[in-house]
Amino acid sequence: MTAEFWDNIHQTKQHDVSWWQDSASLWVDLFDHCTTKMTDGIIDVGAGASLFIDEAAKRGYWPLFVNDLSITALNEIKERFKNSEIAVQIRPSDICDLTLELPVGLWHDRAVFHFLTSSEQQNAYKKSVLRNTTSDANIILATFAPSGPEACSGLNVKQWSAEQLAEFFAPDFTLVFSDERVHVTPWQSEQKFSVVVLKRVPRG
Ligand SMILES: C[S@@+](CC[C@H](N)C(=O)[O-])C[C@H]1O[C@@H](n2cnc3c(N)ncnc32)[C@H](O)[C@@H]1O
Repeated sequence: MTAEFWDNIHQTKQHDVSWWQDSASLWVDLFDHCTTKMTDGIIDVGAGASLFIDEAAKRGYWPLFVNDLSITALNEIKERFKNSEIAVQIRPSDICDLTLELPVGLWHDRAVFHFLTSSEQQNAYKKSVLRNTTSDANIILATFAPSGPEACSGLNVKQWSAEQLAEFFAPDFTLVFSDERVHVTPWQSEQKFSVVVLKRVPRG
C-alpha cells in the first residue's frame, strides 16, 4: 500500500489505532533475548509512532533509526526526542527499499512484515534485513498468528506461526526465542501475535 494511505491513517487516527501500545504494555522483555552490542544500533521498521524506540534509547542502544512509509508518524517520534540528548534518525521509505549508511545490530518489526503477502515482497524484505544488519545481528519480529486477525486497516495480512517465521529466515538466522502473545487493542479486543527473536548466522 502507498505512503499516502498510511500517512492518512497516522494523520487522522493518531494513537486511536488497533496496534497502539502504551509504554506499560510494550513488549520490552524481548530486548533480554538479544545479544548484539547496543553500540551496533537499532532500527524499528514500520515503527509508526510507537514508543518502542524510546525504550531502546533508555537501554543505551545507539544509533537509533526509525523507518516507516508515513512521514507523519516518523515526525511524531522525532518531536518526542527534540529535547533529548539522544538523536533519533528517521528513514522514510518502503522497508524493502531501505539502505542504511551502516548496518545495525538489532532490527525490530512489530506488525509490518505480515502486510507483505506475496513471496516476492517477503523475499525483498529478507534482502533488506540482510543488507541492513550486522553479521551477528538479532531480529525481533511480531506478526499476526494463524489464529489472529486476517486483516488490519482494511488490508489482508499473511498470518505466521513462530515455526514458519524461523523457517523463512533460515539458514541466515536461527531461532533464539519464540512466543505467542495477545495484544489488547485500545478498545479491548484481543489479537494473537507470533513473536520470534532470531540471531543472524555469521557466514565464513
Ligand atoms: C500496524 S502498524 C504497526 C506500527 C508499530 N510497529 C507498532 O507496533 O506500533 C504498521 C506500520 O507499518 C507502516 N508500514 C506499512 N507498510 C510499510 C512498508 N512497506 N514499509 C515501511 N513501513 C510500512 C505503516 O505506516 C504503519 O505505521
